[in-house]
Amino acid sequence: MGKISGLKMDLYRKYHQQTGIAWNVTAAIYERDEANDLALLRSGGNSLFPVEQLFLQGLNTWCGRAIHLQCAGGTDTLSLWQMGAAEVVGVDISENMLTVARRKAVALDAPARWYCCDILDTPHELDGSADLVYTGKGALPWMMAIQAWAGVVARLLKPGGKLYVFEGHPLDWVWDMDAATYQFSAQTGDYFTETVATDRGWPLFSGAIQEHANKDQFHVHEHQWTLGAILNSLVVAGLRLERFEEYPDLFWNQFPHLPPELAHRLPHTFSLLMRKEQPLERGNELNELEVG
Ligand SMILES: C[S@@+](CC[C@H](N)C(=O)[O-])C[C@H]1O[C@@H](n2cnc3c(N)ncnc32)[C@H](O)[C@@H]1O
Repeated sequence: MGKISGLKMDLYRKYHQQTGIAWNVTAAIYERDEANDLALLRSGGNSLFPVEQLFLQGLNTWCGRAIHLQCAGGTDTLSLWQMGAAEVVGVDISENMLTVARRKAVALDAPARWYCCDILDTPHELDGSADLVYTGKGALPWMMAIQAWAGVVARLLKPGGKLYVFEGHPLDWVWDMDAATYQFSAQTGDYFTETVATDRGWPLFSGAIQEHANKDQFHVHEHQWTLGAILNSLVVAGLRLERFEEYPDLFWNQFPHLPPELAHRLPHTFSLLMRKEQPLERGNELNELEVG
């Protein structure tokens, strides 16, 4: 993972902005679900999957502030509050998504703050303030620079703070989404590709954008990071692995024709729990190495 030139970063930021414009239109779908999402939260329910809830149990005992990166309409963010985080912060590039999130938080009188920006530009006033950084469910592929993303995670966390990611498994990238068996996709059938895929699918083909008069004005850019790239970016940024799990379950219906018995033979989602090292831990490690 080499250092990225300023010119490349400018291009990646431009890609982020373009992708963000498409997501801003797609917020109409989140708006449509707003009343149901709010009812769920009001009733004390939450939208996190059972496995996420297992990883995040007991938040009330250790989590002052939880920061949700790419929070979309804020239902998962507010679920972190329902699960015990004292305060939640959502960051997303789409103002329309955050309008939906804000309305829910006001209706629930929840201690929530929302920031509209590219994740790479998450304000420095949040640095070192998070006991938990949470993200996933269709978040990482929109990041064009995984090392820069990992740097943001690290700077937001308090020393000893945790990162929890529940995300689509990058292996899914290689399969043809319309096939009835595992068949390599003609466009993305290479797990190790470094190529950015433009206008590959969601949210470009979502109802919200389909209904738009001139959908050619939208361009979205995806990069599927390998598990190695994700993990190593976070290690380089100063996080330590606590737990990693893979699951056969899909988190959205991306292979509608694939029979469940086939679907369940390969991983489709993963959990990643890491902790930002305390400065002392690193010092101890060095001493041990020197002694050994
Ligand atoms: C699939 S949604 C994530 C769903 C989310 N996990 C949830 O709670 O529903 C992807 C989100 O990423 C946001 N996004 C995409 N690129 C971004 C960027 N560079 N910076 C901040 N947010 C971004 C989009 O606006 C969208 O809300």
